[in-house]
Amino acid sequence: SRTVARDADGVITVAGLRVTDLAEEFGTPAFFLDEEDFRARCRAWRDAFGDEADVFYAGKAFLSRAIVRWLYEEGLNLDVCSGGELVTALDAGMPAERIALHGNNKSTEEITRAVEAGVGRIVVDSFQELARVAYIAERAGRRQRVQIRVTVGVEAHTHEFIATAHEDQKFGLALAGGQAAEAVRRALKLDGVELVGIHSHIGSQIFDTSGFEVAAHRVVGLLKEIHEEHGVQLPEIDLGGGLGIAYTSDDDPREPHEIATALRAIVTRECAAAGLAVPRISVEPGRAVVGPTAFTLYEVGTVKELPGLRTYVSVDGGMSDNIRTALYDAEYSVALASRTSTAEPMLTRVVGKHCESGDIVVKDAFLPADVAPGDLLAVPATGAYCRSMASNYNHALRPPVVAVRDGGARVIVRRETEEDLLRLDVG
Ligand code: LLP
Repeated sequence: SRTVARDADGVITVAGLRVTDLAEEFGTPAFFLDEEDFRARCRAWRDAFGDEADVFYAGKAFLSRAIVRWLYEEGLNLDVCSGGELVTALDAGMPAERIALHGNNKSTEEITRAVEAGVGRIVVDSFQELARVAYIAERAGRRQRVQIRVTVGVEAHTHEFIATAHEDQKFGLALAGGQAAEAVRRALKLDGVELVGIHSHIGSQIFDTSGFEVAAHRVVGLLKEIHEEHGVQLPEIDLGGGLGIAYTSDDDPREPHEIATALRAIVTRECAAAGLAVPRISVEPGRAVVGPTAFTLYEVGTVKELPGLRTYVSVDGGMSDNIRTALYDAEYSVALASRTSTAEPMLTRVVGKHCESGDIVVKDAFLPADVAPGDLLAVPATGAYCRSMASNYNHALRPPVVAVRDGGARVIVRRETEEDLLRLDVG
């Protein structure tokens, strides 16, 4: 977050608020999200791409009504991938034409709802789904705008579970072997759909532009084939999300304008060479918009020294509010937030309170050797895929998300309560 500092007492502040006061008011664990930072990142994406492109925020990274309103106000569109995300978007007032629906197995209800709401596009992921969307739209007396999701065969250098453009995985239709071209052929014959473009998403937490460039090159290649075979020029291409962020000081992410410049250059050049008009580009950043804008605040409960091994620092959350370390071996940093210390730094492992040894928040973390119960720890860059992937494991109560701005704080997603848990348990 851009407004983090330390005050004269050594207490970390965000938007001018002391974490000690925030912990007292909102409890721990809790996510604190810097609204100004979020809005600034939205604007950076908009400005990087300008008027000739569209930015769709990927709601899976983190979505709430407040987020939807900020996106709307800052001129972004929204990518949703479930009925739940769609209903949140619509409920918070995002105009349907600014929403895109994703997913590799959208239900009939999800498609119907999206079509009836009038979403701007549905990104079609399979032959069956193409037929399903066309059927539902026709019955509703509509012609649904669709893009076809293709896999371009790019090896994105990221964790296997979040790479999506190689061929042996569940998303999209492969360019190689002609499935994508066949989907285009079928789409062009269906009355219920208007094929407006081709979509590619190569993966997540990517640090260089080359994978995006190869993807753009191959997508334009398909546009060219379509033009040659059918005499039509599709007006849109979407190059997905995936831009990496800095979780630790070792990471060196690209900025939105670097991606925008690279993509525009390659698409313009290749379209000129192919004799095509330049399509409208869109992108779908999630992590790079929201990830850096929030941190998690935990309280230390116990400190256990294992002689000759390491010291385990247990906090009051863990894999129920951040599964990423356990799931992807993700790296985070951590800071003693409620005070400074002159004690020597000591190698620790920050762990949660769940009944699993893999319940690790930060695998290797240097903390002052006098870290003690009651200290507050801040883990930065937890805005993306932490609250949105949070669980009730061990009947944990999912933490709140508190928006901070100009010295003020307000809850945008409240903390779960035991009543919330028991309400669902109707046996
Ligand atoms: N567009 C599509 C079609 C996607 O599937 C995704 C992410 C995005 C955009 C946004 O990607 P981003 O810019 O946020 O990297 N849970 C994993 C990430 C899974 C991403 C899934 N799709 C994690 O915690 O790293």
